[in-house]
Amino acid sequence: MGVGHRSVTSGLLVSLEGLDGVGKTTQIARLKEWLEGQVAEVMTVREPGGTALGEALREVVLHRAEAGSAIAEFLVFAAARAELIETVVLPVLSRQGAVLMDRFIDSSVAYQAFGRGLDPQTILEINAIVTQGRTPNLTIWLKGEPFPSGEADRLEQRDQEYFRRVESGYAWLADREPERWLILESRQDPDVIFDAICRRIDIVLQGMKGGE
Ligand code: TYD
Repeated sequence: MGVGHRSVTSGLLVSLEGLDGVGKTTQIARLKEWLEGQVAEVMTVREPGGTALGEALREVVLHRAEAGSAIAEFLVFAAARAELIETVVLPVLSRQGAVLMDRFIDSSVAYQAFGRGLDPQTILEINAIVTQGRTPNLTIWLKGEPFPSGEADRLEQRDQEYFRRVESGYAWLADREPERWLILESRQDPDVIFDAICRRIDIVLQGMKGGE
């Protein structure tokens, strides 16, 4: 570990969640740069993806073949997640690095359970298996819909109903484990969001140092 780098015994795992288009990817790129000054190894990954198998599964589930069965869809995301965790994420964490995830376990609860109707408990249980029990130190939810409501046509209204269910899934998850979640309104200045995230990560890192 380089001079000036903080020691993070069990690694730092941070996930970003929220609807498509709320700015997760932008925040993750800035966060990576900011963390690189503090932690020796910083990696960013996206779900589904981040491995050869995961990227192939991403292509299938997002672009080639829409899953008629919600459980089939979830199991594809879960397979990509298992591969990513075991071959990429856990090794980085075991080297005391930091991993920033663009979506993770909570996306499946929000989208496949609250969005598509699967039982949240089933998803929580399978998530625990595929992640080998590793949960994020911090999950940031960029809350809110990317487009304003009001003038939506019928199709968009159907989508909005779906997005509302997904958002209610995130709210349910954050209620269950408030200490893991930082909730930030997505429709505000990206600099303000970034500052809030950095402040919270600082606290998480301090806590890890204190716990050594
Ligand atoms: P992506 O293009 O990465 O969208 P975003 O910019 O919002 O991250 O597509 C990922 C899509 O996959 C997104 O619509 C959410 C969905 N998804 C699930 O439904 N369940 C999951 O477990 C994950 C990881 C993603």
